[in-house]
Amino acid sequence: MLESVNRSKDWRDLVVALDDHHLDTLARAAAATVASLRSSPDAPRSAISPSALRELIRSRALCPEDGDDLETVIDDFAATVWRHGVVVSDVACVAHLHPPTLVPAVAAELAIAATNQSMDSWDQAPAATEVELYLMDWLAELIGFDRSASGVMTSGGTASNLLGVTLARSAAAARLGVDVLKSGLPDEASDWRILCSDQAHFSIQRAAAQLGLGRDAVVAVATTASGALDVAALDEEIARQSRAGARVIAIVATAGTTDLGAIDPLEAVAARARHLGCWLHVDAAVAGAFLLSERLKTGLAGIDLADSVTIDFHKLWWQPFNASALVVRDESNFDLLRVRSDYLDRGDELEGMVNLVGRSLDTSRRFDAAKVVVSLRTLGRRALAEMLEHLVDLAVFAGETIDAEPDLSLLARPAATTCVFDAPGASEDDLRQVQQRLLARGEMVLGRTQIKGRAALKFTFMNPLATTEDVERVVRVVAAELRALRAAS
Ligand SMILES: Cc1ncc(COP(=O)(O)O)c(C=O)c1O
Repeated sequence: MLESVNRSKDWRDLVVALDDHHLDTLARAAAATVASLRSSPDAPRSAISPSALRELIRSRALCPEDGDDLETVIDDFAATVWRHGVVVSDVACVAHLHPPTLVPAVAAELAIAATNQSMDSWDQAPAATEVELYLMDWLAELIGFDRSASGVMTSGGTASNLLGVTLARSAAAARLGVDVLKSGLPDEASDWRILCSDQAHFSIQRAAAQLGLGRDAVVAVATTASGALDVAALDEEIARQSRAGARVIAIVATAGTTDLGAIDPLEAVAARARHLGCWLHVDAAVAGAFLLSERLKTGLAGIDLADSVTIDFHKLWWQPFNASALVVRDESNFDLLRVRSDYLDRGDELEGMVNLVGRSLDTSRRFDAAKVVVSLRTLGRRALAEMLEHLVDLAVFAGETIDAEPDLSLLARPAATTCVFDAPGASEDDLRQVQQRLLARGEMVLGRTQIKGRAALKFTFMNPLATTEDVERVVRVVAAELRALRAAS
């Protein structure tokens, strides 16, 4: 027993106790990783095949009986893993809402891991709790909510949407006098419906499925050519549901759809939600960042009429995963979620000690607010807004470049940072092959999707360092690949 206590002396180098000698180790480890990324081939990914990659990864013992020194492991990990990842800062990495990250955010990540505050209870994260609450208040004000609003950080847009729809469901039950957390769904729930556009993110259906409402409870409303919800179609759907005896418990509007970047007409949608007396959730995972820009935020008019709003910091705020927020107009709505626990959230703490577990579907949770706040303070609003405006301008420029390219055709005018297109005479399989070949050769990580049932390729511009020349180059590469495919067949 005593022997094992004394052994802990040998572990001094392994457990972060924030001694000076750890700082050196941490800095060296971080530098080795970054250096390995820099020495990657000048491409968004290496051209290694899936089978060779699996073989390489499995060629190292995952948990040897005795460990190696950190420097050796870090170097080897860099050579085998980081080197074969995707390079999100490469200008040809244009598939997803997957950003290169901000330097202050990455610096804060190290501190988040080293200090390991847990956001579930105040006694595990006193200052961190205050920082998260401060960030949520600031975000609520940016949305246009008043002081009764607040929020909570989550692991992503999917989790924030789940939380928003969970609150909508609990509020609907509460209106019938049912405590859904205690008694489960009332019989009436089989008639509950959630309306959203046919371009809404699939996480809305997933939320309904997880909450016991079923995917069929989510009714997709038609969109206009731009991808924004069609208000006339919404009115028709509301009337149809009413005739069928169903009850609309929530409308989910999207501010920035995944493929087209379309923003639903929030004021008009809010008026319908108010008339129905139902919850309005706005999924602003993508375009929430537009609130930072005087020029871009006009499209978000009406967002302040929502009951809950999803904003993803790990998209157009250039934060490392995970970083999202669910902001509610009325903080007391979190009571619909609260489950007291004897060891965390007893409710008898001293005045001012907030246990954030009461707002979250998680228990232990990272201090992700730290990297957001360190980034906001370092960059300031103006720089963030300018970077965002640049990306929107690049997407518009990409649209014009595609329009001028005879081998490609633009499917919709870019509204945010994406640009979707196909090619005259190209089949779905041709587009698949173009995307897959460029990926396999490591030349481009290009997006592929369906726009209203039509196969499409997609650029998603996330790198504020990209230039119009970079855009011209990626357009040229895709057009050339299509021509090569045609010539080969
Ligand atoms: C509009 C929208 N909502 C929600 C999500 C889900 O976000 P996450 O991947 O962070 O869970 C996405 C993802 O792209 C999205 O585009």
